[in-house]
Amino acid sequence: MTATLAIKGGTVIDQSGSRRADVVVSADGTILAVGVGLDGDRSLDATDCVVAPGFVDLHVHLRQPGKEEAETIETGARGAARGGFTSVLAMPNTTPAMDCAAVVREVIDLAKDTICDVRPSAAITVGREGERLTPMAELVRLGVRVFTDDGTGIQDDKLMRTALDYAGSLAHLCGGRAIVLAQHCEVSALSEGGFMHEGEWSSRLGIPGQPAEAEELMVMRDIALARLTGTRVHFQHLSTAGSVGMVRVAKAAGLPVTAEAATHHFCLTDACCADYDPVFKVHPPLRTDVDVAAVRQGLIDGTIDAIATDHAPHTPQDKERTFADAPPGMLGLETAFALANTHLDLPIEDLLALLSWRPAAIAGLESDHGGPIVEGAPANLAVVDPATTWTVSGAAMASRSTNTPYEGMTVRGRVRHTILRGDPVVIDGEAQR
Ligand code: DOR
Repeated sequence: MTATLAIKGGTVIDQSGSRRADVVVSADGTILAVGVGLDGDRSLDATDCVVAPGFVDLHVHLRQPGKEEAETIETGARGAARGGFTSVLAMPNTTPAMDCAAVVREVIDLAKDTICDVRPSAAITVGREGERLTPMAELVRLGVRVFTDDGTGIQDDKLMRTALDYAGSLAHLCGGRAIVLAQHCEVSALSEGGFMHEGEWSSRLGIPGQPAEAEELMVMRDIALARLTGTRVHFQHLSTAGSVGMVRVAKAAGLPVTAEAATHHFCLTDACCADYDPVFKVHPPLRTDVDVAAVRQGLIDGTIDAIATDHAPHTPQDKERTFADAPPGMLGLETAFALANTHLDLPIEDLLALLSWRPAAIAGLESDHGGPIVEGAPANLAVVDPATTWTVSGAAMASRSTNTPYEGMTVRGRVRHTILRGDPVVIDGEAQR
């Protein structure tokens, strides 16, 4: 008989609602029972905690292969598990890029024994150079469900149309489910040479800016292309009020679009760049109060389907350069739940939807992650304490890098335990391996 673990004294919250219950899971990875007064061979305390389906992050940079000094799949997965995530989608802007079967297989192999499931996305174009499509059918057969050139958007309208048509024709390879093209919306002709949001703060600081329109023009085009091709487009890290408004209208018209917001785009504004600290440099850039309010509203009213982290580790040597020279990106995995819980005026059920079951459905992971907490379901769970406050420290994180923009900030809501296939991989905030 396999050992059992009882998660005791918490409130279970999933798509079907909220109830006080203990949850018993087995070491072979399934939920054995949900009910009151249950016991197991071992137990985990969940007093004052919410027991939820594990979180799913549609957007992480794990830097392997190629930049292992900043992060590895193993350290990134450890940070993810500490953040309550049981599945993350690795972006393809590695070196070499995840644009062919060999590199995708390498990522799958490196992720075999991690404490959070790491799924590979793959590039839409070879080398993410925006010129030739990758062998998408071959990559779908390896299990890839999401394609993106993240880090850049597809600039060429015709190529994007062809990519959507091609992706739309591949559903038969994965049981009829749609392949998703995820887009980093940025018209490089408008953003090139800009290092922060173009507006009052960039003028005051003398830092060249990227206008909101660099994002919005591509959102507009891809909504039109989703209508033309019928293929689903997922908008990554939406950051402007205009983008949120366009996606709202597109959804109301029934077009096949979904969207995510990165935590920093609803917590921080371009005013954070006032001291020229490159820890606040990110693409798309931090925007204005008005944009932050619009992103929050989009999350509240369902226009934006998911919270993602865009976890982007960079070594101190790289990040501690001038604002212009430093690479864009910030850590996100270990702070996502607390930031959403602190900054979004949403009931916990809605927060969990944004962090768990809605992103799981977008990535086609709903049979393994984000599902209802019922007997027989996969035991991938996050146990979170929404009331506890703590102070963010980059050095205390599992990441190989420390570039958090929230250093020293007090936030509310802590991930206590994470369970991956019945295995308590994080207990009381500590990764177990
Ligand atoms: O800020 C960013 N960092 N935006 C991106 O699109 C890429 C990412 C990275 O890989 O560092």
